[in-house]
Amino acid sequence: MKTLGFLVAMALLGFGLASKYGPCKAKCRALGLRKCSRICRIATCDTIALSCWKTCSDSINGPNAANDLRECLQQCRVGNTCETASNKNCFIKILKENGHREGPVFTKDGHFYIVLPFDGEIRRVDLKLKKSSTFVAPSVNGFNGMPAGLQCDLENNIWVADARLGLLKVDQDGSFTQVATKDNQNETIQGCNDLIFDYHGNLWITASFGPIASKSFTDSRKDPFGSVYCYNMTTNEIIKVATGFLYPNGIAVQHDSNGTPKKLIFGSSYNITAPLWSFDIVSPCQIENKQVWGNLPANGNINGIDFDEKGNLIVTLIDNGSSLLFVFGPNGGTPTCQLKLPTTRATNIQFRPDSNELYITGDALLKLRWKYNGMKQYCEIA
Ligand SMILES: *[C@@H]1O[C@H](CO)[C@@H](O)[C@H](O)[C@H]1NC(C)=O
Ligand SMILES: *[C@@H]1O[C@H](CO)[C@@H](O)[C@H](O)[C@H]1NC(C)=O
Ligand SMILES: *[C@@H]1O[C@H](CO)[C@@H](O)[C@H](O)[C@H]1NC(C)=O
Ligand SMILES: *[C@@H]1O[C@H](CO)[C@@H](O)[C@H](O)[C@H]1NC(C)=O
Repeated sequence: MKTLGFLVAMALLGFGLASKYGPCKAKCRALGLRKCSRICRIATCDTIALSCWKTCSDSINGPNAANDLRECLQQCRVGNTCETASNKNCFIKILKENGHREGPVFTKDGHFYIVLPFDGEIRRVDLKLKKSSTFVAPSVNGFNGMPAGLQCDLENNIWVADARLGLLKVDQDGSFTQVATKDNQNETIQGCNDLIFDYHGNLWITASFGPIASKSFTDSRKDPFGSVYCYNMTTNEIIKVATGFLYPNGIAVQHDSNGTPKKLIFGSSYNITAPLWSFDIVSPCQIENKQVWGNLPANGNINGIDFDEKGNLIVTLIDNGSSLLFVFGPNGGTPTCQLKLPTTRATNIQFRPDSNELYITGDALLKLRWKYNGMKQYCEIA
């Protein structure tokens, strides 16, 4: 008997992906029904819209009540929920204290870092102890940084997109350099938001802010002066490859099956149509053929984007105080599924190397087991 119970529990955990919807259970019990846990079962990551639920379930009574409750759950499910690999809890919260976090990255040596832009800090997070500590708080000539995005390179350095200081390179000992103050046209570079290395080592950077410090702080949420840069390590040049966007934000590179960079994709926040833009990468730091690659539901602000190993693009979006995660197939267009995130602000996402652990920054630091592993980062392949 004991063994059997154990096996049943294993089966439920293994495949179950199930939990119960609280308001349904309450209603179910109030109606005096039995087996309420079964009636009110939903997939673990499913979201039920509460107002819809209230309206739908309000008048339920009589002999069909159990069925009607099930139907309301179906009817009030939000979007097409993405399948994940998590079984018990969909999301795990890693850090207790609140704060606005972005830029999660795993470096080559396995350390995990995030940024607190408004505190001007890059922090190292101990994922086992669930604690974080300041790694570096960059400043240049008395101007404090506002780090927003992080990437790792082959030598364990961290490259930082900084809203006030542009592009920074931080060594393992915490010392840092401001890579450039001017672009290859001798123009003051714009403050940066996010960045990604392609597999050939070119670094692509979104710049949603006005000229770096000492100029006063401006951003492109109303006036579309946002740009995209490419940094070529060999020539040590920062090249503006595109401009004229509202608040360019999360950025990712799609490669072909040989690992050759193929498409540059980035999101634009504060555009009511919530577009993801794409360009074809034709040679190192050269792009052409600007297109809308996909659109998210109107009004949302796209933030972080990242590919999984199957070529699906995962996108976080903040919509009127709630956060959602959307997934696009390899060809863009419209999202194939979505998940509601248990945080008001989701910013960036990052996979742990060689795993399906997806870390999501924002008000909280969340972990989710994705269905697939992440696409390898540059610092993992070389
Ligand atoms: C770059 O611009 C500065 C002024 O901002 C000027 O003094 C300098 O001569 C320029 N350099 C080149 C190579 O054009
Ligand atoms: C950098 O620029 C040089 C010269 O244009 C080019 O040959 C090289 O492929 C570029 N990319 C990298 C990653 O060095
Ligand atoms: C907003 O995005 C759409 C594409 O979805 C684009 O046509 C439009 O120009 C963008 N608006 C601005 C102000 O950039
Ligand atoms: C945003 O949310 C608030 C409160 O939930 C609601 O009153 C408001 O209508 C929403 N605004 C939009 C544009 O959806």
